[in-house]
Amino acid sequence: MTAPLRQPASGETIVPVALGDRAYDIVIGRDAIVTLGSRIKTLRPGARVAILTDDNVAATHLARVTDILKASGIESTPIVVKPGESSKGYATFETVCEAIIAARIERSDLIVALGGGVIGDLAGFAAASVRRGLDFVQVPTSLLAQVDSSVGGKTGINSRQGKNLIGAFHQPILVIADTAVLDTLPAREFRAGYAEVAKYGLLGDADFFAWLETNWRDVFAGGAAREHAIAVSCRAKAAIVARDERETGDRALLNLGHTFGHAFEAGAGFSQRLLHGEAVSLGCVLAYEFSERQGLVGGNSVARVRAHLADAGLPTKISDVQGGTPDVDRLMELIAQDKKVKRGKLTFILVRGVGQAFVANDVDPAAIRAFLADKRAS
Ligand code: GLY
Repeated sequence: MTAPLRQPASGETIVPVALGDRAYDIVIGRDAIVTLGSRIKTLRPGARVAILTDDNVAATHLARVTDILKASGIESTPIVVKPGESSKGYATFETVCEAIIAARIERSDLIVALGGGVIGDLAGFAAASVRRGLDFVQVPTSLLAQVDSSVGGKTGINSRQGKNLIGAFHQPILVIADTAVLDTLPAREFRAGYAEVAKYGLLGDADFFAWLETNWRDVFAGGAAREHAIAVSCRAKAAIVARDERETGDRALLNLGHTFGHAFEAGAGFSQRLLHGEAVSLGCVLAYEFSERQGLVGGNSVARVRAHLADAGLPTKISDVQGGTPDVDRLMELIAQDKKVKRGKLTFILVRGVGQAFVANDVDPAAIRAFLADKRAS
């Protein structure tokens, strides 16, 4: 599946993100978090730190992270927000920016994002904004954040008109993905994050997908298989980000399953009825099924994708979504909002096989409508 990853004596895996003078490392491993202080000290000697986290993560990890920094002589100020998507709005963003300024964090200091995707996006955008740009470090504590949102520099908050509409590309200077912190994640949340892991196989790495089909239970159990899956995912994301940081081309492949998925996620009100990763799972199956219907993919690819995600306990059918789904008109509105219609056509990530995704800019909305109508009825 690929050339060996950099593996230092400590057992951590280092995945470099090659972005020239903004290059950084993703450090992956059990208890990798203990190296946070020494790594910050090396990268930014003398820096002071503001740690942005939420109540839930603070209860489990904040004291330890504060001690780890202190052991390296680094002073830190915690900024703790409420957990959940509601913190990714203007009000919390203002509170966080004011708290960073009040903590006297200067251009030579650092923000540490300790938490899942909401915290990473919020901290990153605050870091991009305060004093016209502060450096920040991602310490992702969910599987989804470790394999996706902490890497690649997309930061932002939600507008009243849609998710992630206010933001900036702002790369972290370091990502520490401590796989041991995933041991305390609720099973459903881990499973939802797994959909993003499987996505890397589905979009560009058939060997990885085959490996997941055989080894997914070990990934869920923890240990070496989990670290391998996270490392391969981060490596895939790092490669895509390095060649298309601003999503003018290939980076859009990371949206496999997201356009269909987002419509169902929005239809469920971004609630516990359908977690983001669950929506991605359903969306990946729909992308494969739609591609099959367009004659793009044949053989057993679609059956394999459906079977694997269902085995892992993820939604693969519209009827798997709890509490009902929007009708086709509403789904089409949500799809059009997510990916603007250009000259009457939609952009979707479609597939020619497992590991063979491509960007299709010319998808006929009528074909999507007919497909969704059939899928809702089946
Ligand atoms: N999560 C998709 C991206 O980073 O581009």
